[in-house]
Amino acid sequence: MTPRVEFFTGAAMRPHLPALARLRIAVFRDWPYLYDGQFDAERVYLSDLAQSPRGGLAVAFDGETPVGCSTCLPLADAEAAIQAPFRAAGHDPARYFYFGESVLLAEYRGQGIGVAFFAAREDHARRVSDAGYATFCAVERPADHPLRPAGALPLDAFWQRRGYRHHPDLACTMRWKQVDGGDQVANRLSFWIKPLQPARRP
Ligand SMILES: CC(C)(COP(=O)(O)OP(=O)(O)OC[C@H]1O[C@@H](n2cnc3c(N)ncnc32)[C@H](O)[C@@H]1OP(=O)(O)O)[C@@H](O)C(=O)NCCC(=O)NCCS
Repeated sequence: MTPRVEFFTGAAMRPHLPALARLRIAVFRDWPYLYDGQFDAERVYLSDLAQSPRGGLAVAFDGETPVGCSTCLPLADAEAAIQAPFRAAGHDPARYFYFGESVLLAEYRGQGIGVAFFAAREDHARRVSDAGYATFCAVERPADHPLRPAGALPLDAFWQRRGYRHHPDLACTMRWKQVDGGDQVANRLSFWIKPLQPARRP
């Protein structure tokens, strides 16, 4: 059965943050993130989202069990490292809504949940802000990375079909502990951007 997607904002996100942390650790362990996640690091990472009154969290449930999550918040509420490339390029963070991760357990993929995560976040951004753009970033990995699985498909085409355009020159650096042994490896993540059309009125 296809999971149902529910959306939470502000303080209503808090009860679901442990599930988000669990899913991030489980899903990002795989290619291409290779994240050796720890709950303590998750608590720090998620604090910006938890404190953002206009933050949003989509959760996919199989029955009562969360099997996927996706987050968003005004770029101005996101951590400084994520805002930095926008500021450096002269872009006011207030014009952007930042989409954090989408993480869905592998057995639930290919049923439209990832598309629903984008739609829910874009609707939310239009509802609670006048941001002109939605943006997210994705990790860059070299083509010859030793842990790249044979036949691994990038999500670029999926994102392009959602209307996002890659801006490889707009990039930030994030550090995390990796499954291949590196402690606090510095990773480059480049941004994708989509103009947000005016909200449809009922
Ligand atoms: C990103 C991720 C959440 C996408 O999840 P997903 O649910 O498999 O994606 P979807 O099923 O919505 O979309 C995949 C394709 O299947 C299609 N699809 C399949 N069944 C569908 C259905 N019943 N209804 C709508 N679309 C469907 C979608 O249209 C889409 O194709 P398109 O791009 O040609 O339109 C998932 O791949 C994931 O968790 N990846 C690992 C973590 C990651 O890399 N996250 C991104 C960076 S944070």
